[in-house]
Amino acid sequence: NGKYTVTLIPGDGIGPEISQSVKDIYSAANVPIQWEEVSVTPILKGGKTVIPDAAIQSVKKNTVALKGKSPHLFSAVSNRLTSSIRIRPARNTNVVGKGHVSLNLTLRRTFNLFANVRPCASIKGFKTAYDDVNTVLIRENTEGEYSGIEHEVVDGVVQSIKLITWDASERVARYAFHYAQASGRKRVTAVHKANIMKMSDGMFLSACREVSKEFPDVVYDEDLLDRVCLKVVTNPQPYSDRVMVMPNLYGDILSDMCAGLIGGLGLTPSGNIGRDASIFEAVHGSAPDIAGKGLANPTALLLSSLMMLRHMNLNEYADKIEKAALTTIAEGKSITGDLGGKASTREYTDAIIQKLL
Ligand code: IPM
Ligand code: MN
Repeated sequence: NGKYTVTLIPGDGIGPEISQSVKDIYSAANVPIQWEEVSVTPILKGGKTVIPDAAIQSVKKNTVALKGKSPHLFSAVSNRLTSSIRIRPARNTNVVGKGHVSLNLTLRRTFNLFANVRPCASIKGFKTAYDDVNTVLIRENTEGEYSGIEHEVVDGVVQSIKLITWDASERVARYAFHYAQASGRKRVTAVHKANIMKMSDGMFLSACREVSKEFPDVVYDEDLLDRVCLKVVTNPQPYSDRVMVMPNLYGDILSDMCAGLIGGLGLTPSGNIGRDASIFEAVHGSAPDIAGKGLANPTALLLSSLMMLRHMNLNEYADKIEKAALTTIAEGKSITGDLGGKASTREYTDAIIQKLL
């Protein structure tokens, strides 16, 4: 029927409500997509806690997924993470969180979603300290401190390993340069702490430098994470011409900081990009306090879905929906509580739909 099938993972908390809002807006805009809804809520299978196979197969088949809010942690006492290096945990270990695995991380690993793209652009009508923020951060998404290799050396001494590989560094660097070229950004800045992590961040930088040689038309430079934090909050404008690329944990933290500059995680999209599949998701929490009340703000998920449409080369639909959403926010009449308005999710969604018709 000429439609693309996309996996939709509504998730829990406000996930189903904000997913519904996106679905309604897409129908109104006649986006040629049909949704295949799956649950990623872990189930017990053969003594292990796993993501339901239907969800895995759906993402594999469709190669593109949109994800609302998944449950954060699941107990995976008998699971082993996919790290190639395994260190046997010491006995009597009693480290908080042991045996719990983040579902987000599991999805990123399962599909090898190696680049996490997080743009932050000022939203007109939503007043913050700056009105000219336009950063793009690309975060390595499979390793670093997120490798899940932790153990207790002896009582009272624990180790969490930061694993950096040349291949993953090179892969995310290449993605960042391609992204810069495709988006018309002139510069790639590798963000690091190689002054301290001489080997791991040092190698990350070497990989970035190597890759930069393949892109003579893109300026390449490097900057320290702490300096970047200071500079971005002092004056974000110089960062609007470039893409920043960095190891996993730095990207996790710096992306929240950039999100704060434009109004928070309710307004920022993200995309987890892999070779065989990509998952676009809102980074904010499941907001259990307002879940089910029809008050949630679907903007982050909607903007994530627009990244997805552009990823699928459905730019005209993305542009049209983006304009409708941003105009609705700029007008300030039908916006949700977190944006300073009084509208319900339904009213906000309908206001966007009105602009599409
Ligand atoms: C994010 C989140 C995740 C992360 C958590 C939920 C595992 O904070 O997507 O930024 O730390 O990567
Ligand atoms: Mn985060």
